[in-house]
Amino acid sequence: MHLKGFELPEYFMLGSATSATQIEGGDRNNSWYEWCLWGNTEDGTTSLRAADHWNRYEEDIKLLDSSMDHKIYRMSIEWSRIEPEKGSFDTEAMEHYRDELELLKKHGIRPLVTLHHFSNPVWFESEGAFENRSCVEYFKRYAEYVVESLGDLAWEYVTINEPNVYAINGYHYGIWPPGKQDMRLMYRVLRNMVLCHIEAYETIHSLRKRRGFSGETRVGPAYHLRAFAPYSKNPSDMLAARIIEYLFQSALVLSMSNGFLYAPIGAGLPYKIGKYSDFLGFNYYSRSSVHFQGFRDDVMPDTLRNDLGWEIYPKGLYELCRKWYRKLKLPIWITENGTCDREDSFRARFIYDHLREVARLCEDGVPVERYYHWSLIDNFEWLHGESAPFGLVGVDFKTQERKIKKSGEFYAEICRNKGVTDQMIGEYIGGEKGEGEQVD
Ligand code: FCB
Repeated sequence: MHLKGFELPEYFMLGSATSATQIEGGDRNNSWYEWCLWGNTEDGTTSLRAADHWNRYEEDIKLLDSSMDHKIYRMSIEWSRIEPEKGSFDTEAMEHYRDELELLKKHGIRPLVTLHHFSNPVWFESEGAFENRSCVEYFKRYAEYVVESLGDLAWEYVTINEPNVYAINGYHYGIWPPGKQDMRLMYRVLRNMVLCHIEAYETIHSLRKRRGFSGETRVGPAYHLRAFAPYSKNPSDMLAARIIEYLFQSALVLSMSNGFLYAPIGAGLPYKIGKYSDFLGFNYYSRSSVHFQGFRDDVMPDTLRNDLGWEIYPKGLYELCRKWYRKLKLPIWITENGTCDREDSFRARFIYDHLREVARLCEDGVPVERYYHWSLIDNFEWLHGESAPFGLVGVDFKTQERKIKKSGEFYAEICRNKGVTDQMIGEYIGGEKGEGEQVD
């Protein structure tokens, strides 16, 4: 297949994303560390080591600027460090994040701060976390503390990362903390997460306005969106794909955007009708192909897959962004997109194929404004531990040495040029397989 260069619009911003639990290391006070201790990761590693970013953030931020040419960076705050015990806040931990943000500012990189990215303080987990309606009050208080403390250093926030993945893994499959399998509880958790988001959205806006902090406040969740397809042309598979899409993501996106609690998240009644997103934050990785029998998800045969078996389906990004822009008319930020590629043999092509879809969206009038690649560095990938590298920069977890991968160099050039030239294709992509090509 002949690949061509493309350009992204002048206003477009590129960078990458990380999350605290996955890169920082050193925190024993969160739900994930406990979960790892009970032997729940596939390779036996825990989040305690990760990429030691807590101590190496200066090196990593320098890398973002001088080697990777990022203009934006999405990072998260570890709630368990900020509020180690219920109601008591750790000013030193907050200072640490302020230092990180000061440094980003010095390097001219705009931060997008995530308040909740899968991990909970142990005290919160033991009170039932998002199962317990008090979570709304706790989360709001935490959001207030963070936003007040960060002041002018951060004005763009993701409230909660991927509520659907958090809830389905923790409460349906039982493979993430707290390891439960209870559908009703799962929807209760989702409902409470919607309320937490709405309250945090209002709090962040009103607090920043009241305090006169500079920077245009922009707040939204980051959704995990998948493309859904029927496994066959059979009408029952088609119906199942539509139902699963609604249950997994559409009901959530709608509820979080406008405060109306769509069934089965709520009873189809309003919580507070309003506008609760300034952008649509989409994390996009793959496509699920659905069988009616057992409402099971699968991967289409003869398709490209990454090292975790996830189908690589760039067109899904186009389809989802167009669909949701039509519905909600909000600018889109791709808050995560990336792949697990141990040999770094197809990541460059993955980036090319997905960014080409983004360029196509922009040409077609869909305002995609940003792209955050997942992830800057190899990290602790939840259930897969240290064995599923998604980084543009490789990390040797034993020595903590960082090394930019070839795909990382390719991406850095894209950040510099806001596009891909034919010469870059020749240099970085070569014979890598991608969009539109069958696997052998
Ligand atoms: C997303 C998560 C992120 C990372 C990537 C691979 O669902 O938000 O933390 O695990 O998947």
